[in-house]
Amino acid sequence: MENFDLSAYQARTAWYQKARFGLFIHWGLYAIPARGEWLRSNERISKEDYRPYFQEFTAANFEPGLWAKKAKAAGFQYVVFTAKHHDGFCLFDSAYTDFKSTKTPFGRDAVAEVLEAFREVGIKVGLYYSIIDWHHDHYPHFGDRHHPMRDNPDFKDHQYDFDTYLDYMHKQVLELVSNYGQLDILWFDFAYDDLNAQAFKGQELVEQVRQLQPQVIINNRLEASGEGFGSLIEAKPGLTSGDFVSPEQIIPPKGIFNIKGERVLWESCITLNDHWGYVSNDHNFKSSKLIIRKLVETVSKGGNLLVNVGPNALGEIPKESALILEEIAAWMKYNQESVIATGPADLDKPEFGYITQKGKALYYHVFDEIIGYLPLSGLKPKQIEKVRLLVDGSELLIEKNWITNNYPDLSFVRLGSKATLVDPVDTVVKVYTK
Ligand code: GLC
Repeated sequence: MENFDLSAYQARTAWYQKARFGLFIHWGLYAIPARGEWLRSNERISKEDYRPYFQEFTAANFEPGLWAKKAKAAGFQYVVFTAKHHDGFCLFDSAYTDFKSTKTPFGRDAVAEVLEAFREVGIKVGLYYSIIDWHHDHYPHFGDRHHPMRDNPDFKDHQYDFDTYLDYMHKQVLELVSNYGQLDILWFDFAYDDLNAQAFKGQELVEQVRQLQPQVIINNRLEASGEGFGSLIEAKPGLTSGDFVSPEQIIPPKGIFNIKGERVLWESCITLNDHWGYVSNDHNFKSSKLIIRKLVETVSKGGNLLVNVGPNALGEIPKESALILEEIAAWMKYNQESVIATGPADLDKPEFGYITQKGKALYYHVFDEIIGYLPLSGLKPKQIEKVRLLVDGSELLIEKNWITNNYPDLSFVRLGSKATLVDPVDTVVKVYTK
């Protein structure tokens, strides 16, 4: 297919393969009604009825420096912030619309401020940009699969010119890659039905983006959504394939491989509760334990995990989400090196958890309590230089006794005299191999 340059691909994705842990931020006008970013579509809300939120948007406590600080402590290596969601509201100062944050009472360019705050703490920056737009007059309305007016007979004869929309959309993407410094990720969302990469003139778009920012990593949603994997998986990458597959709300059972059986880059995006945008009565939050364990699982399968927060109308990360981030930070303080910049180990998954690897270091992540000795599966004692408990750096001796001698091909260490784990969430044993 057209212009796929493997060495350029490998060079631009090198950091991303190591990053492993990203923070997704969904924020926009929809934080005010607080029923999720799809509310216009779900509730068939007209443009006029959505307008009051625009006039009301003050985001009085918006302080992206605080978001960045929390993210840094929790070990996030990159952020992806919604520059524009499906509702068409722009959190950046676009020259092509007035439906933007700088025209609300809030009056600020949120994209510029968020990027600056995260760069400041050394976190790579990405922007989410919806190629779908429910605000633009020239986006398909009636009969579309998702548009809020899709079944409103008043829009049956709605005249639109998709090229006019495409012109707008392409220009906005070029604004983002021209006016906001170096971007590390562009996260498009999403192609569906006949509105595929071709219909969105994806090739042209990517060509122009790559001219301005050759290093930027792009997801696969110019060709797909969470549904479908796109041409990356067909081992025929082209300009619109993107650089990684973006499964949603799932950790793929074995990781993701192309039809030749080679690993492809992927990133699972997941919510902390059941919505991306802020929903005031959704308290169905996952535990920090679950998120940490799913991050470990993801890395052991060669993927990245993009965890979402949805700041509220005031611009604050909801308390419950902030608490989860703090708990993740407490684990990361001692165990970060066992996930960030690591990848899958070429060893069978142990029964008690997962293994990740960085060079000669293997990290055994112990989720289940052990009786007796912990088997370092896949390793013979002579392959091991030393073993340490990550949480305090203490030495773990290889056990050789009348019990372990029955398994000469395995190595065992003793975690302690009690069955309880030092860290019930994930106790990490670092094995230095020879
Ligand atoms: C989706 C949704 C959306 C969300 C996103 C995150 O398919 O349309 O609201 O922003 O994907 O992955």
